[in-house]
Amino acid sequence: MEFPVYRPRRMRRTETLRAFMRETSLHASDLIYPLFVEFGTGVRREVPSMPGVFNISLDQLPAEIDELKALGVPAVILFGIPSVKDEAGSGAYAEEGIVQQAIRAIKAHDPEFTVITDVCMCEYTSHGHCGILDDDGYVINDVTLEMLAQAAVSHAEAGADMVAPSDMMDGRIGAIRSALDAEGYSNVPIMAYSAKYSSGYYGPFRDAADSAPSFGDRRAYQMDPANSDEAIRETALDVAEGADIVMVKPALAYLDIVRRVKDEFGYPTCAYNVSGEYAMVKAAARNGWIDEKRVVLETLLSMKRAGADMIITYHAKDAAKWLKEG
Ligand code: PBG
Ligand code: ZN
Repeated sequence: MEFPVYRPRRMRRTETLRAFMRETSLHASDLIYPLFVEFGTGVRREVPSMPGVFNISLDQLPAEIDELKALGVPAVILFGIPSVKDEAGSGAYAEEGIVQQAIRAIKAHDPEFTVITDVCMCEYTSHGHCGILDDDGYVINDVTLEMLAQAAVSHAEAGADMVAPSDMMDGRIGAIRSALDAEGYSNVPIMAYSAKYSSGYYGPFRDAADSAPSFGDRRAYQMDPANSDEAIRETALDVAEGADIVMVKPALAYLDIVRRVKDEFGYPTCAYNVSGEYAMVKAAARNGWIDEKRVVLETLLSMKRAGADMIITYHAKDAAKWLKEG
């Protein structure tokens, strides 16, 4: 019997040797926690399909931020649930809108904590689509760009550290960049949802944000799950228009896209570990079918290994706790 010269198992014998060999690491500082904020006081309502995730009212934000900070999670991405929705999604750019107030509440409590805002229309439109509709129910691209730019500027005005457009309209990064620059916010970066797929994995989010489209679906603006080259073209546009961070969403079923985007552009890359991915893990864990800690840390690590520099994840608090325990 011939033995190979290189025998990898030699370097797996002890934890010290394994640590020498470890190529990828996961830290709490890589994580961004999504927050669903609404009006009212004393609200802390668990999302039925996302155990452990809560819709909270503005007054709950300081405690929430303190908890994240203590865990070492450095940033949140805000989603707003307005009190009223209309055809034009006017709550998205209202000065006293829910996200605008949430930003101010967090910044009043802790100016150092990083606040990212999701920029889209679907939580604010009565029809639940990510933009303004024409008579045929088609999202009108360039009219929507103006609304998105207004929303982004209103977030920056309220003190957001970064804006993250998730609408998938053509030209949105350029439109938002110009608007931010024109209003004096050239230091506010844009995290672009560059390769955002039309995905079944967003189901639980749409329950939480009450943002499911009232008719049709999002296939006329979000990407076809069959496509990979197109993700490169989408990302190239966002980079050319001034994106500071590019994002792939969802994460787990699209790790090949994360890797391609990272290799192709070498840009700071974010993976969005979405609501349906969270719900599946939670459901299996609750049934005792998987070891939640092991599976969550392995999953998040896989996103880092695929090329993500940061991860938006509903597991952020748990993961940070587990990373602390070691
Ligand atoms: C809004 C938006 C969605 C998500 C983030 N921003 C939903 C959608 O596009 O329908 C999904 C996040 C998740 O599933 O966790 N455009
Ligand atoms: Zn949307």
